[in-house]
Amino acid sequence: MATVSRVKELYAGKAKSVYTTQDPNRLILHFRNDTSAFDGEKIEQLERKGMVNNRFNAFIMERLEAAGIPTQHDHLLSQEESVVKALDMIPVECVVRNIATGSLVKRLGVPDGMDLSPPTFEFFLKNDALHDPMINDYHILTFGWASGEEIETMKRLTFQVNGVLTALFRDAKMLLVDYKLEFGRYQGELVLGDEFTPDGCRLWDSDTRNKLDKDRFRQGLGGVVEAYEEVAHRLGVDLDSPL
Ligand code: CDP
Repeated sequence: MATVSRVKELYAGKAKSVYTTQDPNRLILHFRNDTSAFDGEKIEQLERKGMVNNRFNAFIMERLEAAGIPTQHDHLLSQEESVVKALDMIPVECVVRNIATGSLVKRLGVPDGMDLSPPTFEFFLKNDALHDPMINDYHILTFGWASGEEIETMKRLTFQVNGVLTALFRDAKMLLVDYKLEFGRYQGELVLGDEFTPDGCRLWDSDTRNKLDKDRFRQGLGGVVEAYEEVAHRLGVDLDSPL
């Protein structure tokens, strides 16, 4: 495998930075320890989080690839970095919810913790200044953020991820409550981008319903990285294995 290294910072997000490489088709994602909530109003450094999320994300992306879902993941580069395909990102977030909580409960007044059958799906626009407003298929078409075919593929792949990951987490005694995915285009194909980590999903212990995700940070419950490490441990992700 040709060596890839950072050439130039392309973008610094709230928890990850993205770098170009010598290869125009590859980028480096750096998972930082920064943890943010409420559109960046609350920011803290959490020791080990970058490493745990990088390892965890690689594990999940490899599982999804194995299940036939195209992802941007290429390989782990270092403890906190991964090499990914350079995607043309679609500026929408795809959220699937298996259990009602968070913004859904505030918006619709449904009971917190209610099982959702069938699971529900929502699109949000990626725009911090507007607080990521909820949008529908027509907004995406009208403003040209994605084509009708891409909208259908994003929905299909997001639900396919739900099938794979609810089973994976269920076997490890966790409930996948909800999660957010982002997609991009790569050589004519729609591909899963961004990340899948406890920063972008909700995971509850199956028995106690204890929170094992970023809600621990949002709600000031403490033990954030410890919870992420517990999730990784339960899934059999080896955080110390050689790269
Ligand atoms: O977290 P909050 O209550 O504001 O929003 P939500 O709509 O209930 O979030 C649904 C799921 O998407 C949760 O797992 C969030 O962690 C995730 N999400 C995210 O990763 N990034 C966002 N900008 C919004 C939601």
